[in-house]
Amino acid sequence: MDLGELARLYDFRGKTVVITGGAGILGGEMACALVGCMANVAILDRDAALAERLLRRIDTSIGRCSIVYGDVLDATKLTDARDRVLAEFGSVDALINAAGGNDPRATTGPAAAFFDLPPEALRSVLDLNLLGTILPSQVFGKAMAERKGGVILNITSMTASRPLTRVPAYSAAKAAVSNFTRWLAVHMAQEYSPAIRVNAIAPGFFLTEQNRFLLTDPATGGLTPRGQRIIDHTPMGRFGTPEDLLGAVLWLLSPAAAFVTGAVIPVDGGFSAFSGV
Ligand SMILES: NC(=O)c1ccc[n+]([C@@H]2O[C@H](COP(=O)([O-])OP(=O)(O)OC[C@H]3O[C@@H](n4cnc5c(N)ncnc54)[C@H](OP(=O)(O)O)[C@@H]3O)[C@@H](O)[C@H]2O)c1
Repeated sequence: MDLGELARLYDFRGKTVVITGGAGILGGEMACALVGCMANVAILDRDAALAERLLRRIDTSIGRCSIVYGDVLDATKLTDARDRVLAEFGSVDALINAAGGNDPRATTGPAAAFFDLPPEALRSVLDLNLLGTILPSQVFGKAMAERKGGVILNITSMTASRPLTRVPAYSAAKAAVSNFTRWLAVHMAQEYSPAIRVNAIAPGFFLTEQNRFLLTDPATGGLTPRGQRIIDHTPMGRFGTPEDLLGAVLWLLSPAAAFVTGAVIPVDGGFSAFSGV
């Protein structure tokens, strides 16, 4: 191995990467980085306006980027999106399943007992995170199976292995995403090609719109007791920033991870390693 070979492993020129939820905080950061590495990036999101705003942040003089409207819970729209990506870029080399998140209505609290959480809120969280990972993996994974190569990268969470308080459906859904990651890794390797790899990253705590209400106090801007407990249990003593994910993402997408499949990689400042003592 020398620097030249290292650079070749991380050469994303002409590789097409589809990012569901690519207009969101974490997916958007991955989109910017991959375009910066000269990949062709297709941002698949349901909010076209948000995606257009992101496009203004991206330097498309380096790589190519397009926005494909799509809903990860609608197989027909996903198939249309795949056809548009194939028509524009010719192939799909990688899929990042970054659409996901919690719903405040599916969160327990002083005014919301577990027993009263509405079924439709619980179902929407389970669907978005689990089905919203499975359906794009079916649609884009089929194109990978046909050409016998590709990479799928899922986004799970710390809550998958040790459930966090207050978010029962999100915890269960992310545990299922980790499980599905391993299942699909085995299935793709055995049934289609060992050159199709499926992995996940498990981010720790990143301050984003979907968890800001749990981690910070809107009145003071300071940490809530929950936010403080997270920092106390993160040996590195801070929340993650979206850029903190990029090293693991680029590694798992690249041939540097050619023998890695079915893995769930924590990117968590040490949260999962710490017993609390
Ligand atoms: N932030 C964290 O601390 C953290 C930690 C661990 C794991 N994660 C996971 O990382 C992933 C990205 O999180 P994030 O913080 O970047 O969240 P985000 O900013 O809310 O991004 C998620 C994106 O997915 C889109 N989306 C939602 N439903 C969709 C659907 N049905 N079809 C297509 N797109 C849809 C959202 O659009 P709308 O705005 O229209 O809803 C949004 O653009 C999620 O899976 C999340 O669970 C986040």
